[in-house]
Formats: sequence, structure tokens, C-alpha cells
Amino acid sequence: MEKTIKNVDELFEMLDSSFRTEKQFWEPFYSNRQRLIPFFVNKPCENLVSYIEDGKIHAGKAMELGCGPGRNALFLASRGFSVDAFDLSEVAIEWAKERAKEAGLNINFKCESVFNLAPQQEYDFVYDSGCLHHLLPHRRVQYIQMIYNGLKPQGYFGLTCFAPVTERLADLN
Ligand SMILES: C[S@@+](CC[C@H](N)C(=O)[O-])C[C@H]1O[C@@H](n2cnc3c(N)ncnc32)[C@H](O)[C@@H]1O
Repeated sequence: MEKTIKNVDELFEMLDSSFRTEKQFWEPFYSNRQRLIPFFVNKPCENLVSYIEDGKIHAGKAMELGCGPGRNALFLASRGFSVDAFDLSEVAIEWAKERAKEAGLNINFKCESVFNLAPQQEYDFVYDSGCLHHLLPHRRVQYIQMIYNGLKPQGYFGLTCFAPVTERLADLN
């Protein structure tokens, strides 16, 4: 089928349609909680813990993007942050809400794509663990712009990307 692309939005939509639908991938991914997936364990990222314990980031309003079952949002809330946490998987968000309830923590978990967010200078800290590298390359500039707009002027953005263990071992040799 031929289609004339008339603007950037239409170009991005055309590129989107060439790839898998993220929601279809992530819902079944989270349906079995017993799978041996490192980030299914309810422990925060080590780097995130160090930012807080070393006093680099202080409690304030935080946003977690692609929060999954909520391990980092839970940690931030336990350290006094007010947390909004988003993920496009309903299954992951339900799991995160259960964890928050069990821990007695009040966190605003919401099932939403990061591309539907438009915060304006609201957050002291924005955190992404493993979400950016799942976003299609042509959409990443839009994502970074959303984060930039959402941070307060002196706010911080923390980013963690995952790498295969084999590459990490090669780095060590
Ligand atoms: C590798 S997992 C990491 C989960 C969590 N951040 C952690 O470290 O435990 C990536 C997460 O990004 C979410 N994700 C991918 N694309 C997204 C989008 N457009 N909007 C919101 N979440 C998204 C997925 O549903 C998945 O939960």
C-alpha cells in the first residue's frame, strides 16, 4: 500500500508500524512471576541505592519510567520520596501495587506509556532502569525531551541500561 508521508508524526507512525507492539511483548512477559528474571527480584538497582546513600540525590518528588513491578519505586518511597511510577504493562502495574500494599507504601503506580506523559517542571528526580533501550530509536529524542520538560531546573535524571553478562565478563578480562 502506498501512502504519502506529510509530517514528522506520520513518519514516526510509519516507522512504529514496522516493529513489534511493546504491550503485546510485556504483558505475557510478566504473567509468570516465578521466572528467573533478575529484575523480578524485589531489590533496587545498586546504583540507585548509592545515589541516595551517598547523598547525591535527596528525597523529593520522583518519577520512575517503565517501572515494571516497582522495585525501584518502592525503594524511593521507603526513603521518603513521593513517587509517580509508570509502565505500559497492566500486569506489571498490578504486581507493583500489590508489593506497595504489602510494604505499606503509598505510591502512584499508573499503567501508561511514557509517550502519553507531559509533566512540566514537576520532578526533583526522574529514574529509568531498563526502559530507554526498549524504546524505538526514532522515539528516543521525544522521550528525552519529555524528561527534560518534567524535571525541575535543578532536578536529576538517573539512567540504568542492562547489558548481557557475556559482554561484562569480556570487559573484565
Ligand atoms: C527491562 S524492564 C525494566 C523494569 C523495571 N524498570 C526494573 O528495572 O525492574 C522495561 C520496562 O519498560 C516498560 N516499557 C517499555 N516501553 C514502555 C513505554 N513506552 N511506556 C512505559 N513503559 C514501557 C516495560 O513494560 C517494562 O516493564
